Amino acid sequence: MENDYILVRQTSQLQGSVRVSGAKNSVLKLMAASILIPGVTRLSNVPDIADVRLMQQVLEALGVEVSWPASDSVQMDATNLTSHKAPYELVVRMRASTAVLGPLAARAGAATVALPGGCAIGARKVDMHISGLEALGAQCKIEHGYIEVAVPETGLQGAEVMLEFPSVGATENLIMAAVGAQGTTVIINAAREPEIADLIDFLISAGVTIKGRGTTRLEIEGVQTSKLTTEVEHKVVGDRIEAGTFLVAGALVGGPITVEGFNPEHLAVVLKKLREAGAELEINTDSATITREGAIKATTIQTLPYPGFPTDMQAQFMALMSVAEGASVITENVYENRFMFADEIARMGADIRIEGHHALVKGVAQLSGAPVVSPDLRGGAALVLAGLVANGETQIAGVHHIDRGYEQFCEKLRSLGARIERFS
Ligand code: EPZ
Repeated sequence: MENDYILVRQTSQLQGSVRVSGAKNSVLKLMAASILIPGVTRLSNVPDIADVRLMQQVLEALGVEVSWPASDSVQMDATNLTSHKAPYELVVRMRASTAVLGPLAARAGAATVALPGGCAIGARKVDMHISGLEALGAQCKIEHGYIEVAVPETGLQGAEVMLEFPSVGATENLIMAAVGAQGTTVIINAAREPEIADLIDFLISAGVTIKGRGTTRLEIEGVQTSKLTTEVEHKVVGDRIEAGTFLVAGALVGGPITVEGFNPEHLAVVLKKLREAGAELEINTDSATITREGAIKATTIQTLPYPGFPTDMQAQFMALMSVAEGASVITENVYENRFMFADEIARMGADIRIEGHHALVKGVAQLSGAPVVSPDLRGGAALVLAGLVANGETQIAGVHHIDRGYEQFCEKLRSLGARIERFS
């Protein structure tokens, strides 16, 4: 609920194990990809989070029948699309709705999707999505606040598309559009995030030929979508960002905690930085156990596209560095404006100076609990983590941001021993 708040009290120990949910940044795209399937898609390991419920509404507006056979599985039946318009009132609440652009262009030959506009963390432009679709022969225009995509009678044509920046969203939209193009599409400088590999696995299981998974060069063989499998099942990959968030909690408070249900390889640089910060890690195929005995050590990070340090872990790491011994520099290279968290944790006594896209964090001996507001999804989660090591109580408002991407966040932390409660 909009006015809910979370109360965190200083927590002396976290222990036990916690299982992460399926990845928000994969399931939203897999749900959009169900538009390509002339039948039924069943996804398992689905997080019941606000953004998934929003994507459900977007799909229902297009005529996709969506149901929940179980609390962690969702079914989409896209046999009969009735519209190709994703309404403003939904897109403005969730930028990821733009992921329907590519599949609609491929399956329906047209798409009308509200412009997402900027958000708290940056401009969030869509120019590469549009220029990519145009390279495949679509006519695109922005009118009355909507992106209008029209595919000529001759259909989309496979082409070579060079991305100026390995944008996650543009790569995903182009892969899905290319599925419905004639011939081969080659995407150069494609994004390599594990969530993109999950989308590729889904499309391959639906009958699409895609080469280059996990690399910057992707080759997609177009196929008439009517020829795709009419029933597809897929298990959503574990959420590496949720896992990283819990691992930082373990590094902050001390652990040992075990985080399960994700692939630690997807967090390689984060694990390296956690070790540099003084934590010890035991890694298994789908879990990691973290402990920390000595002091938290200052270390420097810079956010980059995968496999670099994920921008979605930047705020959580800033919380860790705010109580480290020494000074660290955090550089945000992906978004223009993702340091609003710093203003909030400064209210808890953190010593952070922002210079453009660099943050100089001087560790302090102790944070103090205070009333703070979640600036965005990851900033909100990081404030909860900071509250675990702040003396007294930390009251966090704006928790609807956290609900967008973390399933049962408070319950999972409480199961590890965190002193945390949520109030309506
Ligand atoms: C995805 O956003 C994630 N969201 C983000 O996670 C994540 O931060 C981001 O990838 C980077 O890893 C989802 O998957 C739903 P981008 P996306 O296109 O696709 C610029 C979270 O906390 N750009 O790689 O929007 C853009 O402005 C969220 O879970 C253009 O300039 O990311 C941004 O600065 C936050 N033109 C940068 O690229 C374009 O056409 C990265 O954007 C496209 C992007």
